[in-house]
Amino acid sequence: MTSLAGKSVLLIVGGGIAAYKVHELVRLLKTRGAGVRIILTKAAEQFVTPLSLASLSGERVYTSLFSLTDEVEMGHIQLSRAADLLVVAPATADLMAKMANGLADDLASTALLATDKPVLIAPAMNVRMWRHPATQRNVDILRRDGINIVGPNDGEMACGEFGPGRMAEPGEIVSSIIAMLTPRAQPLVGKKVVITAGPTREPIDPVRYISNHSSGKQGYALARAAMELGAETILISGPVSLPIPPGVQMMPVETAREMLETCESEMPADIAIFTAAVADWRVAVDSPEKLKKAGGAPPSLTLTENPDILATISRSANRPQIVVGFAAETEHVTEHAAQKLKSKGCDLIIANDVSKETGVFGGDRNTVHLVSATGVEDWPSMSKDEVAGKLMERLAHMLAPQHKVPK
Ligand code: C5P
Repeated sequence: MTSLAGKSVLLIVGGGIAAYKVHELVRLLKTRGAGVRIILTKAAEQFVTPLSLASLSGERVYTSLFSLTDEVEMGHIQLSRAADLLVVAPATADLMAKMANGLADDLASTALLATDKPVLIAPAMNVRMWRHPATQRNVDILRRDGINIVGPNDGEMACGEFGPGRMAEPGEIVSSIIAMLTPRAQPLVGKKVVITAGPTREPIDPVRYISNHSSGKQGYALARAAMELGAETILISGPVSLPIPPGVQMMPVETAREMLETCESEMPADIAIFTAAVADWRVAVDSPEKLKKAGGAPPSLTLTENPDILATISRSANRPQIVVGFAAETEHVTEHAAQKLKSKGCDLIIANDVSKETGVFGGDRNTVHLVSATGVEDWPSMSKDEVAGKLMERLAHMLAPQHKVPK
């Protein structure tokens, strides 16, 4: 168990039904030895009591900005700076809107504006509130401001609706806290990692195209993880609506041919990971003008095969030391992946089941199987960020020069 002894967390609890989970969060943090100070928003007091959290944390719980005793004992500025990390859980739509806009009208928002420490938020709200353009705009702003976000997860909500909006589980929040508080080795410093992500878009005419549902989330998470391990990270991405991870060099492309050309121009590299859902076919000759209905039979499209980027790079003279492919399958997942490993000439295939009921496409979680020449390794269900972190560490290890065994 990773210790958090000597670390102190300022936990800001927002007013949402998920607030009940902070009891477990505080307990887990205390078990690891962290000091936990807690601020409750006014709304949070409707869901949890200062008394229960004070008993769990062993510290007094702060509730109001204008409490004179609080200001005398510890001002809000000091409160937010004495911590090593600020955690907002649950981060409600309202609290996120305040953070994104720099509002400071209560103790929670004031501490968040006054801090100079890293901040982690665990959003929780109704799925429609999460998907609302205003919330998504705020999420983008917060990411750009360097705020770390864990979750929200997909699932059934307290309001009976289904979708993204459930707060990350306390264990997941603790993993993110550990990742933020324990300085990580950077084994990929001086190494170049090239990652393809997202769908490709193959034109039919100037307004229509063939594409797929790839969200790009797994590829973007890998780029973030590669950056965190110190790699020079090139993300060659088809059209998606995700923020570019800080420090990553993003090269936007549309078609499979552009993606291949850009990959080739980025070689040599040490590691190449192909997560993109490349369209297998394109229209042989796309129309320079918009195809018209103009009565008669619908036009028939002649398709032609796209280049296989993974196979091409795997077999090129400039082949990176490690080449990783992804295999999105809906049946016989690992068998198909094992065949793909051979046919594409890569070192590792990350196989996952993308049949509709798994919710992998567009979702935040993934259950993967690592298929290599030595066998299959099944990983449990994890967030795409966790898959990315674990996989990049594995690849960094594979890249590390083997220690010579003395004779
Ligand atoms: O053949 P399939 O599409 O299932 O293979 C998946 C793997 O191959 C993924 O890693 C994907 O990024 C890569 N691929 C590619 N170029 C293609 C088709 C797939 O790089 N044209």
